[in-house]
Amino acid sequence: MDEPLEAPLRSEQDIVLARQLARSKAQEVGLSLIDQTKIVTAASELARNALLYGGGGTMSVRVVTNGMRRGLQLEFRDEGPGIPDLGLAMKDGWTSGNGLGMGLSGAKRLVNDFHIDTAAGSGTRVTITRWQ
Ligand SMILES: Nc1ncnc2c1ncn2[C@@H]1O[C@H](COP(=O)(O)OP(=O)(O)OP(=O)(O)O)[C@@H](O)[C@H]1O
Ligand SMILES: [Mg+2]
Repeated sequence: MDEPLEAPLRSEQDIVLARQLARSKAQEVGLSLIDQTKIVTAASELARNALLYGGGGTMSVRVVTNGMRRGLQLEFRDEGPGIPDLGLAMKDGWTSGNGLGMGLSGAKRLVNDFHIDTAAGSGTRVTITRWQ
């Protein structure tokens, strides 16, 4: 597998740049326009969570393959407080703050694979993939 491209998530401007990077890689992979928009929308939510709750983090971008199929895989990681109750956090409408509580659940619906690694005190890593 190729080395991933990395983008910092430390400010609102970084989120804009992360979205642009995800969009251009999604085009390069050959995702349809609608699938590009789906993964970019999910990326936006996860990047904002890393910034807001994780105190900033990093997005890694990688092109993956499965036989003839190509996909775009994005990983968002931070070293914040982690998510103590993932079942609750994944529920539509549940927020610990002033959000809509739709970021994680919405992002999951927009991609083909969605995986979270998190625990109280050990940061959060979310990996998403959208296949061609
Ligand atoms: N990276 C993270 N680190 C710690 N907690 C997180 C992280 N991402 C999400 N959470 C927790 O999970 C909850 C649900 O996240 P989700 O993105 O679904 O909703 P939200 O951010 O509250 O609202 P919005 O709809 O605006 O995204 C958050 O309120 C927060 O408590
Ligand atoms: Mg959110």
